[in-house]
Amino acid sequence: MSAESAVSASAVEAFDAVDVIRTKRDGGAVPEDALRWMIDAYTREYVADSQMAAFAMAVLLNGMERDEIRVMTDAMIASGERMSFSGLGKRTVDKHSTGGVGDKITLPLAPLVAAFGVAVPQLSGRGLGHTGGTLDKLESIPGWRAALSNDEMFAQLRDVGAVICAAGSGLAPADKRLYALRDVTGTVEAIPLIASSIMSKKIAEGTESLVLDVKFGSGAFMKDVDKARELARTMVALGADSGVATTALLTDMNAPLGLAIGNANEVRESVEVLAGGGPADVVELTVALAREMLALAGQPDADVEAALADGRAMDVWRRMIQAQGGDPDAALPTPRETHTVTAPTAGVLSRLEALPFGIAAWRLGAGRARAQDPVIHAAGIDLHVKPGDEVAAGQPLFTLLADDGARFDRALDALHGAWEIDDDAPAAGPLVLERITA
Ligand code: URA
Repeated sequence: MSAESAVSASAVEAFDAVDVIRTKRDGGAVPEDALRWMIDAYTREYVADSQMAAFAMAVLLNGMERDEIRVMTDAMIASGERMSFSGLGKRTVDKHSTGGVGDKITLPLAPLVAAFGVAVPQLSGRGLGHTGGTLDKLESIPGWRAALSNDEMFAQLRDVGAVICAAGSGLAPADKRLYALRDVTGTVEAIPLIASSIMSKKIAEGTESLVLDVKFGSGAFMKDVDKARELARTMVALGADSGVATTALLTDMNAPLGLAIGNANEVRESVEVLAGGGPADVVELTVALAREMLALAGQPDADVEAALADGRAMDVWRRMIQAQGGDPDAALPTPRETHTVTAPTAGVLSRLEALPFGIAAWRLGAGRARAQDPVIHAAGIDLHVKPGDEVAAGQPLFTLLADDGARFDRALDALHGAWEIDDDAPAAGPLVLERITA
C-alpha cells in the first residue's frame, strides 16, 4: 500500500485497533461500537492477525463482561450469512457438544428427535487432535457425502427431518479466522471466546432452539467442572439474548463414552443404539439430550425410549444416510491389524481415562494432526470393559485397531498409566451432573 492510500484507508476507519487492544489489556470493557468495528475490520483483513492475537490474549487474561460477549457474538454472526428455516413448517432444534472421546451421540440423536416430526439441522465439523469429528465418523459409510447446498439441506429437513452436514464457509467467517488464530496463539481456552465462537455459528445456522452438551473431565475441553459450568451458563445466556431457547447439560467426560473410539466402530455402536441396544451410557445420554430437545420443541412428554425400541429412529437414520448418498446396509471398513491388551491380574477396572484413550486412537490414525490430513476410518479402539466392571486375569480389556501395525507402539505409549485394576472401584458420579437453563 502506498503512503497516500494508507492514510486514506485509515482516515475512513472509525476506530483504532491499538486503542481497542489497550482497553482490554488494561482490564476495561470495550464499547459496543468499537468491538463491532474490531470484528468487522478483522473480517475485512484491515485489522492484522498480530493485532487480533494481542486482543485475544488480553481477553484470555482479563475476561469480558456479559454485554461484551453478547456484542462479540452478534458481530461474528453479522460477519456472514444467517440461515433461516422459518419456511419449513416444523419446529427446529439443534444440539452442540463441546467434544469428547467416543462422543458419537449426534448420530443416534438427530434421527431420534426427527422421528417426532421436529427438524434437526446439525451442522458439524471434522476432528482435529484427540476429539473426533462427526463428519469423519459418517464418512466411513460408503457413498455418504457431507457437503450439501442450502437448498439440499432445506429439502432434506422437510422430507426426512434430520440433516448432519458440513457447515458452509458463509457462516460466521470472522469466527473461522479467529479460531484458527487462537489455535496457534495459546488463546483457545478463554471462556468468552469459546462461548462466542460456538454460539455465533449455532445462532447463524438459524435453529429455533438449542441443547448444549457441555463436558467436563479428562477427555473434555474443560477439565474443571466449575469452568465447564461457567461456559455453559455463558452460552445459555447468549442463546437467550438472541432469542434461541437454549438449555445445557453438564456431562462427565472422565471416561470414554460407550465402548467404541474411532470412526467406523462409532457408527456401528450408534446403529446398535438405534436398534434398541448399545452401551448404557450412550443410551442414557442420547435419551437425556433427546428429551431436552423435544421439550424445547414443545413435546415435553415424548416417549423417546419407545422410538428407539420400535425402529422409528432407525427408519429416519436409514433415510437420512440414503438422502446424502450413503448405503446404510453397506459393510463398514475393518482394520488390517489389531492388538488386544489383556488384564494382568483379576480385580475391578477402577479407572480408564478418556484423554489418553483419545490420544491413542488419534495415533492409530482415527484422527488428524493437520486439517488437511486424511483419517483412517477403520482405526481406533474397541473397549471390552468399562470402569467398575470386574475382570479376570487374562481377560481382554481393549483392542487397538489400525491399518499399519507400526502404529501400535506409540498408541501403547499414550496408554501407559491410563487404566488401573484394583480391589474395588470408586463410586461413579452421575453421567449428567446438572441442567442449566436461562
Ligand atoms: N469449538 C468452537 O467452535 N469454538 C471454540 O472456541 C471451541 C470449540
